[in-house]
Amino acid sequence: MNPLNHVAIIMDGNGRWGMKHKNSRNAGHKEGLKTVEKIIKETIKNKIKFLTLFAFSTENWKRPKKEINYLFNLLENFLLNRIQDLHKQNIKLKILGSKKFSPKLNKLLNNSEKKTSKNTKLQINLALNYGSKSELIDAFKKINKNKITISEKNIDKNLQTKNIPVPDLLIRTGNTKRLSNFLLWQLAYAEIFFEKKLWPAFNENDFNRIIIEYKKIKRNFGKI
Ligand code: FPP
Repeated sequence: MNPLNHVAIIMDGNGRWGMKHKNSRNAGHKEGLKTVEKIIKETIKNKIKFLTLFAFSTENWKRPKKEINYLFNLLENFLLNRIQDLHKQNIKLKILGSKKFSPKLNKLLNNSEKKTSKNTKLQINLALNYGSKSELIDAFKKINKNKITISEKNIDKNLQTKNIPVPDLLIRTGNTKRLSNFLLWQLAYAEIFFEKKLWPAFNENDFNRIIIEYKKIKRNFGKI
Protein backbone atom coordinates (compact mmCIF):
# COMPACT_ATOMS: atom_id res chain seq x y z
CA MET A 1 0.00 0.00 0.00
CA ASN A 2 1.22 3.48 -0.84
CA PRO A 3 2.28 5.65 2.07
CA LEU A 4 0.39 8.94 2.26
CA ASN A 5 2.34 11.83 3.67
CA HIS A 6 0.94 14.86 1.87
CA VAL A 7 -2.51 15.65 0.44
CA ALA A 8 -3.15 18.79 -1.58
CA ILE A 9 -6.68 19.99 -2.31
CA ILE A 10 -8.20 22.43 -4.80
CA MET A 11 -11.42 23.27 -2.97
CA ASP A 12 -13.60 24.13 -5.94
CA GLY A 13 -17.35 24.60 -6.14
CA ASN A 14 -18.25 26.90 -3.23
CA GLY A 15 -19.86 29.49 -5.48
CA ARG A 16 -22.02 26.97 -7.37
CA TRP A 17 -23.08 25.23 -4.15
CA GLY A 18 -24.01 28.57 -2.58
CA MET A 19 -26.07 29.68 -5.60
CA LYS A 20 -27.90 26.37 -5.79
CA HIS A 21 -28.76 26.05 -2.11
CA LYS A 22 -28.88 29.61 -0.75
CA ASN A 23 -28.87 31.86 -3.82
CA SER A 24 -25.59 33.37 -2.61
CA ARG A 25 -22.00 32.54 -3.60
CA ASN A 26 -20.77 33.73 -0.22
CA ALA A 27 -23.02 31.24 1.58
CA GLY A 28 -21.09 28.59 -0.34
CA HIS A 29 -17.78 29.91 1.01
CA LYS A 30 -19.20 29.83 4.55
CA GLU A 31 -20.28 26.22 4.07
CA GLY A 32 -16.92 25.43 2.44
CA LEU A 33 -15.17 26.42 5.64
CA LYS A 34 -17.13 23.70 7.47
CA THR A 35 -15.72 21.17 5.00
CA VAL A 36 -12.22 22.52 5.74
CA GLU A 37 -12.76 21.74 9.43
CA LYS A 38 -14.05 18.23 8.66
CA ILE A 39 -11.11 17.44 6.38
CA ILE A 40 -8.54 18.71 8.89
CA LYS A 41 -9.98 16.28 11.48
CA GLU A 42 -9.96 13.42 9.00
CA THR A 43 -6.40 14.21 7.91
CA ILE A 44 -5.27 13.84 11.51
CA LYS A 45 -7.23 10.59 11.91
CA ASN A 46 -5.43 9.23 8.84
CA LYS A 47 -2.06 10.27 10.32
CA ILE A 48 -1.24 12.38 7.25
CA LYS A 49 1.52 14.89 8.03
CA PHE A 50 0.92 17.61 5.40
CA LEU A 51 -2.32 19.12 4.08
CA THR A 52 -2.13 21.88 1.47
CA LEU A 53 -5.31 23.83 0.75
CA PHE A 54 -5.75 26.19 -2.20
CA ALA A 55 -7.85 28.96 -0.64
CA PHE A 56 -7.17 31.96 -2.92
CA SER A 57 -5.28 32.17 -6.20
CA THR A 58 -3.48 35.13 -7.76
CA GLU A 59 -6.27 35.01 -10.37
CA ASN A 60 -9.06 35.20 -7.75
CA TRP A 61 -8.49 38.98 -7.42
CA LYS A 62 -10.59 39.26 -10.61
CA ARG A 63 -13.72 38.41 -8.57
CA PRO A 64 -16.18 41.06 -7.34
CA LYS A 65 -14.84 43.06 -4.40
CA LYS A 66 -17.75 42.00 -2.23
CA GLU A 67 -16.86 38.32 -2.62
CA ILE A 68 -13.14 38.95 -2.02
CA ASN A 69 -13.93 40.90 1.16
CA TYR A 70 -16.23 38.14 2.36
CA LEU A 71 -13.56 35.50 1.83
CA PHE A 72 -10.90 37.44 3.71
CA ASN A 73 -13.30 38.19 6.57
CA LEU A 74 -14.04 34.48 6.78
CA LEU A 75 -10.32 33.73 6.92
CA GLU A 76 -9.70 36.43 9.52
CA ASN A 77 -12.47 35.13 11.79
CA PHE A 78 -11.32 31.56 11.27
CA LEU A 79 -7.82 32.43 12.45
CA LEU A 80 -9.02 34.58 15.34
CA ASN A 81 -11.40 31.87 16.59
CA ARG A 82 -9.52 28.71 15.76
CA ILE A 83 -5.75 29.25 15.87
CA GLN A 84 -5.48 28.61 19.62
CA ASP A 85 -7.26 25.28 19.24
CA LEU A 86 -5.18 24.31 16.20
CA HIS A 87 -2.09 25.14 18.23
CA LYS A 88 -3.35 22.99 21.12
CA GLN A 89 -3.77 20.14 18.66
CA ASN A 90 -0.09 20.48 17.71
CA ILE A 91 -0.91 21.75 14.20
CA LYS A 92 1.52 23.99 12.33
CA LEU A 93 0.18 26.60 9.91
CA LYS A 94 2.21 27.80 6.94
CA ILE A 95 1.09 30.32 4.36
CA LEU A 96 2.07 29.81 0.72
CA GLY A 97 1.75 32.77 -1.65
CA SER A 98 2.61 36.39 -1.22
CA LYS A 99 1.16 38.12 1.79
CA LYS A 100 -0.09 41.29 0.16
CA PHE A 101 -3.19 41.79 2.29
CA SER A 102 -4.31 44.44 4.77
CA PRO A 103 -1.72 45.16 7.50
CA LYS A 104 -4.18 43.63 10.00
CA LEU A 105 -4.51 40.34 8.07
CA ASN A 106 -0.78 40.17 7.32
CA LYS A 107 -0.06 40.53 11.03
CA LEU A 108 -2.61 37.87 11.92
CA LEU A 109 -1.13 35.47 9.36
CA ASN A 110 2.43 36.11 10.56
CA ASN A 111 1.43 35.67 14.21
CA SER A 112 -0.46 32.46 13.45
CA GLU A 113 2.56 31.03 11.63
CA LYS A 114 4.92 32.07 14.39
CA LYS A 115 2.72 30.72 17.19
CA THR A 116 2.41 27.29 15.57
CA SER A 117 5.87 27.05 13.99
CA LYS A 118 7.19 24.34 16.33
CA ASN A 119 4.15 22.05 16.07
CA THR A 120 4.63 18.57 14.68
CA LYS A 121 1.38 16.61 14.35
CA LEU A 122 0.14 18.07 11.07
CA GLN A 123 1.34 20.94 8.87
CA ILE A 124 -1.41 22.83 7.09
CA ASN A 125 -0.17 24.87 4.14
CA LEU A 126 -2.73 27.47 3.23
CA ALA A 127 -2.20 28.79 -0.29
CA LEU A 128 -3.38 32.41 -0.34
CA ASN A 129 -2.68 34.81 -3.19
CA TYR A 130 -0.73 31.88 -4.55
CA GLY A 131 0.22 31.20 -8.18
CA SER A 132 2.61 28.46 -9.22
CA LYS A 133 4.08 30.32 -12.19
CA SER A 134 5.06 33.33 -10.11
CA GLU A 135 6.47 31.02 -7.42
CA LEU A 136 8.67 29.41 -10.10
CA ILE A 137 9.74 32.75 -11.56
CA ASP A 138 10.77 33.94 -8.07
CA ALA A 139 12.78 30.72 -7.57
CA PHE A 140 14.59 31.18 -10.92
CA LYS A 141 15.34 34.82 -10.05
CA LYS A 142 16.88 33.79 -6.70
CA ILE A 143 18.96 31.09 -8.41
CA ASN A 144 20.15 33.58 -11.00
CA LYS A 145 20.98 36.25 -8.41
CA ASN A 146 22.97 33.78 -6.28
CA LYS A 147 24.75 32.45 -9.39
CA ILE A 148 23.96 28.82 -8.52
CA THR A 149 23.39 25.96 -10.94
CA ILE A 150 19.90 25.36 -12.24
CA SER A 151 19.11 21.87 -10.97
CA GLU A 152 16.07 20.06 -9.64
CA LYS A 153 17.48 20.25 -6.11
CA ASN A 154 18.19 23.99 -6.34
CA ILE A 155 14.75 24.74 -7.75
CA ASP A 156 13.15 22.72 -4.91
CA LYS A 157 15.22 24.65 -2.38
CA ASN A 158 14.16 28.04 -3.75
CA LEU A 159 10.43 27.41 -3.92
CA GLN A 160 8.11 28.46 -1.11
CA THR A 161 7.57 24.76 -0.47
CA LYS A 162 11.20 24.13 0.47
CA ASN A 163 11.37 21.55 3.29
CA ILE A 164 7.86 20.33 2.46
CA PRO A 165 7.71 16.92 0.75
CA VAL A 166 5.85 16.95 -2.58
CA PRO A 167 2.14 16.03 -2.50
CA ASP A 168 1.41 12.34 -3.02
CA LEU A 169 -2.22 13.01 -3.77
CA LEU A 170 -4.12 15.94 -5.29
CA ILE A 171 -7.88 16.16 -4.94
CA ARG A 172 -9.89 18.70 -6.91
CA THR A 173 -13.58 18.93 -6.13
CA GLY A 174 -16.20 20.72 -8.23
CA ASN A 175 -16.29 18.55 -11.37
CA THR A 176 -13.57 20.47 -13.22
CA LYS A 177 -10.41 18.86 -14.54
CA ARG A 178 -7.62 21.41 -14.41
CA LEU A 179 -4.71 22.46 -12.18
CA SER A 180 -5.44 26.22 -12.15
CA ASN A 181 -1.80 27.27 -11.64
CA PHE A 182 -1.47 25.23 -8.42
CA LEU A 183 1.86 23.59 -7.44
CA LEU A 184 2.74 22.82 -11.08
CA TRP A 185 6.32 21.77 -10.25
CA GLN A 186 5.49 19.95 -7.02
CA LEU A 187 2.64 17.88 -8.51
CA ALA A 188 4.82 16.31 -11.23
CA TYR A 189 4.28 12.76 -9.86
CA ALA A 190 1.16 13.20 -7.72
CA GLU A 191 -1.85 10.95 -8.11
CA ILE A 192 -4.74 13.18 -9.17
CA PHE A 193 -8.38 12.65 -8.25
CA PHE A 194 -11.06 14.84 -9.81
CA GLU A 195 -14.18 14.72 -7.70
CA LYS A 196 -17.65 15.56 -9.01
CA LYS A 197 -19.00 16.87 -5.71
CA LEU A 198 -18.79 20.60 -4.95
CA TRP A 199 -16.48 21.43 -2.03
CA PRO A 200 -19.24 22.21 0.55
CA ALA A 201 -20.83 18.83 -0.21
CA PHE A 202 -17.54 16.91 0.06
CA ASN A 203 -17.25 14.98 3.33
CA GLU A 204 -15.19 12.57 5.40
CA ASN A 205 -16.51 9.52 3.53
CA ASP A 206 -15.52 11.00 0.16
CA PHE A 207 -12.06 11.81 1.51
CA ASN A 208 -11.58 8.30 2.88
CA ARG A 209 -12.90 6.69 -0.32
CA ILE A 210 -10.25 8.58 -2.32
CA ILE A 211 -7.52 7.65 0.17
CA ILE A 212 -8.43 3.96 -0.15
CA GLU A 213 -8.30 4.23 -3.97
CA TYR A 214 -4.98 6.10 -3.80
CA LYS A 215 -3.42 3.43 -1.58
CA LYS A 216 -4.22 0.75 -4.16
CA ILE A 217 -2.50 2.53 -7.06
CA LYS A 218 0.79 1.14 -8.30
CA ARG A 219 3.04 4.20 -8.25
CA ASN A 220 5.85 3.70 -10.75
CA PHE A 221 7.67 7.04 -10.84
CA GLY A 222 8.75 6.21 -14.39
CA LYS A 223 9.87 2.66 -13.59
CA ILE A 224 7.96 -0.48 -14.57
C1 FPP B 1 -13.32 27.91 -5.03
O1 FPP B 1 -14.70 27.79 -5.25
C2 FPP B 1 -13.08 28.31 -3.66
C3 FPP B 1 -12.44 29.45 -3.30
C4 FPP B 1 -11.91 30.43 -4.25
C5 FPP B 1 -12.29 29.79 -1.87
C6 FPP B 1 -11.97 28.66 -0.96
C7 FPP B 1 -12.38 29.05 0.42
C8 FPP B 1 -12.93 28.24 1.34
C9 FPP B 1 -13.07 26.78 1.18
C10 FPP B 1 -13.45 28.78 2.63
C11 FPP B 1 -12.48 29.58 3.38
C12 FPP B 1 -11.29 28.80 3.79
C13 FPP B 1 -10.50 29.15 4.79
C14 FPP B 1 -9.32 28.31 5.12
C15 FPP B 1 -10.78 30.32 5.64
P1 FPP B 1 -15.38 28.77 -6.30
O2 FPP B 1 -15.87 29.96 -5.56
O3 FPP B 1 -14.45 29.04 -7.43
O4 FPP B 1 -16.60 27.90 -6.78
P2 FPP B 1 -17.29 27.91 -8.22
O5 FPP B 1 -16.35 27.21 -9.16
O6 FPP B 1 -18.54 27.13 -7.97
O7 FPP B 1 -17.55 29.34 -8.59
